[in-house]
Amino acid sequence: MTFSRRHFLTTSAAGTAVFGLGLSPAFAGTPAMPDWHLGYTSAPAGGFDPAPMRLVFGKVPKGLEGCLYRNGPAQFRYGKDDFASHWFDGDGMIQRIAVADGKAVHSGRFVQTNKRGIEQAQGKFMAPGFGTVGHPDFPVTSADDVNAANTSVIVIDGKLYALWEGGSAIALDAATLETHGVKDWRDDLAGMPFLAHPKREPDGTVWNLAINGRNVGVYRIAADGSLKSFGLLNIGKAAYIHDWAMTDRHLIILVQPWVNEAFRPPVVNGFEWRPEEGFQFLIVDKNDFSNRRWAQGPARAFYHTGAAWEDADGTIRIDAALYKEPVLGVGGGVDEIRGDWKGREARFQSDLTQIVIPPSGDARLIETGLDGDFPQVDPRRHGLPRRLTALMTGQPATRPGLSAVSVHDWETGTTDTFDFGASRMVEEFLFVPKPGKQDEADSWLIGPVLNLKTATTDICVFDAVRVSDGPVCIWRGDRAWPLGFHGTWV
Ligand SMILES: [Fe+2]
Repeated sequence: MTFSRRHFLTTSAAGTAVFGLGLSPAFAGTPAMPDWHLGYTSAPAGGFDPAPMRLVFGKVPKGLEGCLYRNGPAQFRYGKDDFASHWFDGDGMIQRIAVADGKAVHSGRFVQTNKRGIEQAQGKFMAPGFGTVGHPDFPVTSADDVNAANTSVIVIDGKLYALWEGGSAIALDAATLETHGVKDWRDDLAGMPFLAHPKREPDGTVWNLAINGRNVGVYRIAADGSLKSFGLLNIGKAAYIHDWAMTDRHLIILVQPWVNEAFRPPVVNGFEWRPEEGFQFLIVDKNDFSNRRWAQGPARAFYHTGAAWEDADGTIRIDAALYKEPVLGVGGGVDEIRGDWKGREARFQSDLTQIVIPPSGDARLIETGLDGDFPQVDPRRHGLPRRLTALMTGQPATRPGLSAVSVHDWETGTTDTFDFGASRMVEEFLFVPKPGKQDEADSWLIGPVLNLKTATTDICVFDAVRVSDGPVCIWRGDRAWPLGFHGTWV
């Protein structure tokens, strides 16, 4: 394999330009816009100052204390007519909901990236991105020049990082959300991409990937934030990798037959679907990258895994939301950003699936028929055998987005769901372990729900094994914020 940091960064800069653009003005919605457009309306440039939320339903569970951080695009328009070309290109904004003594306080701040600085000064979209050609005058010398920092967040050793997928993690103050700047995990890895879906072992060790076409870098970061190692893999083709999986012993790179050899802006135009190549899985020993094997399964596309585990005989099981057609970024949310939704397309249907990879031979799929995405698992069990997967489901016919929270039990094959109905837009819900408890069942689920009746974003909490009973408590502030992608609870 010919691979060097220079090559990685050069091609990354030219091509990976990647996910980032954003849009606009006051978060009040335009009178002509449908109510759900609140989810795609720009947040105030100055962010949201800390403000208490009111408990409007239920009782706050004893022991629920911590902080929910979320990230998502929050700039969708400049002025009257300059709309973002793609939802994935909106500038990232971090929402922080601090829960203590039964009270919740919300604040939000844009990540102050290079891209945002230039575009705010110019008052228009300029950077190339996932779905954006970009302005010819926008200077691009590295992927971080166009880093939108809009996809996820992680906290390592008390330090908060905004994550994208084509560029570096960006460090922020975990309390004030002030942006500190690009994170270099090691001097010689400056500018190396850091995927938006890192995985954390129960002991706090964080693993993550750096994707550049067929070359994949692997970070191993100790719980104290120090980089323990950085290794390299070659996956043979430039498959799109947004997420991956990990057991206690292995890394699993899911190589979907959805290839983008150029990966240059607008990235979304460069994908090629090759179903004849199937879905390939590279299984790598965490302690010896030379110890690896491949498995093969039927062609599927995906954005997200839940997590993976291994049976006693070495069989690997991965839960993921799989799509029979490649739909990533199709449409780009352009209609939604303009408040002009045209209805759902059947091909956007996913299936919560367990990918079963035996110690030798091909993978098989256990399909649940559950249409949803954003699978989440108990962080105490990441990489270990478990039975529960939470995901967002429910698709109202009258508006975009999802409306329900589901928990699937792989042991019983049953699914427990609470559907808020068409007047609520549900975001990703995270497992929160109950203090002092170890079983998966001893968890809450916490997440935001955009309430279209009150024009507020509500924070809802469920008991993870009694979801259909409805939320156990709901906090509501006096404002809404745009729909986000991913978050973390600390
Ligand atoms: Fe994601």
